[in-house]
Amino acid sequence: KLPSRVKLVDVGPRDGLQNEKQPVPAEVKIGLVHRLQEAGLKNIEVTSFVSPKWVPQMADNAEVMAGIERRADVCYSVLTPNMKGFEAALPSRPDEIVVFGAASEAFSQRNINCSIAESIERFAPVVQAAREHGIHVRGAISCAVGCPYEGEVAPERVELVARLMKQIGVQHVGVADTIGVGTPRKVQRALEAALRHYGLDDVSGHYHDTYGQALANTLASLELGVWQYDTSSAGLGGCPYAKGATGNVATEDVVYLLHGMDIETGIDLDRLIDAGKYISDYLERKPNSRASTALLNK
Ligand code: HMG
Ligand code: MG
Repeated sequence: KLPSRVKLVDVGPRDGLQNEKQPVPAEVKIGLVHRLQEAGLKNIEVTSFVSPKWVPQMADNAEVMAGIERRADVCYSVLTPNMKGFEAALPSRPDEIVVFGAASEAFSQRNINCSIAESIERFAPVVQAAREHGIHVRGAISCAVGCPYEGEVAPERVELVARLMKQIGVQHVGVADTIGVGTPRKVQRALEAALRHYGLDDVSGHYHDTYGQALANTLASLELGVWQYDTSSAGLGGCPYAKGATGNVATEDVVYLLHGMDIETGIDLDRLIDAGKYISDYLERKPNSRASTALLNK
C-alpha cells in the first residue's frame, strides 16, 4: 500500500547550489529558502558547514542561515562532516544536521578525505553533541547503488554503513543515488538494506536524475512504503566530487506525481514552480523540471 502522505526535503539550496560554477549571493539563496517555505515546504536543507577550500559555494553558510526569516514549523538542516563543521553550525541553530558517509570507499576518500571507518569515527562525536543539543541527526549514504570510481555498489555495502550509523546514534538514514545510475529494483534493494537497521519512518530516498530514472525510483520506493524524499527545486544539484552527476529529481516533478496519485505533500505546486523559476532566472537557465516547463508554457 502506498503512503497517503509524503514528506519532501528540498535540498536545492544546498545540493543544488553547491555545484554551481557562478557564485550565488547569500541574498539569492535566502530568497530561494523564503520562496520554498512560502510554497509549503516544511523541510529545507539550507547549506553545509564544510571546508571552503573544498566547496567554496557554501562558504557563506552562516550568513545564509542568519538571513532566513524562520518559521517555527519549518525544519532547517545543514551538513556537518566533522566537529569543526558542527561547532561552526551551532550558532546558526540548525534544527537538524546531516553527516554524510558513503557506501563506497573510493567516494568516501574523494568526498570527505577519509575511509568509511574513519568517517564513522569522525561522525560519532558530532552525533553525540547534536543529540545533547536536541538537534535531529540524519545520515546520508552516498553511492548506495553506484559509484563514479568503483562502479556498481552491492546492497551489503549500504547495510554495513546503515549499521555503523545506527551504532553511533544517527537517527535517520538517507539512501542516496549520487550519480543517478539506479533503476527501480536496485534502489529497492538498497532501501531494504537500510531498512534492516532503521524503521520505515527513519529512511528516506535521495535520487539524482542523471539517467532519468529518479521518478521511477521514487515510485518504486513508495511501493516499499518509504515516505520521505530529498528533492531539489528546479532539479538543481550535483556533487562536485561526483563528476558528471546532474541534479536531484525536481521537487516540482515529484509533487506533480504525488498529487496525481492523491498523496498529500502540503505543497502548493504553483508557488513551488515560482520558487524554481526564481532561482533558474538568477542562473539564467530554464528550470530542469518537466512539470514546471509544461505548466509555465500552458
Ligand atoms: P580535510 O582536508 O581532510 O580536513 O577535509 P582536515 O580536518 O585535515 O582540515 C584541513 C583544513 O580544513 C583545516 O584548515 C581545517 O580547519 C579545515 P587549514 O588549517 O588548512 O586552514 N576544515 C574545515 N573548515 C571549515 N569547515 C569544516 C572544516 N573541516 C576542516 N567543517 C572535510 C575534510 C570533510 C572538511 C572536507 O573533505 C570537506 O569539506 N568535504 C566536503 C565535501 C562536500 O561538501 N561534498 C558535497 C556534499 S555531500 C553530497 O553532495 C552528497 C549528498 O547530496 C548525498 C548524495 O547525493 O550522495 C549529501
Ligand atoms: Mg546529493
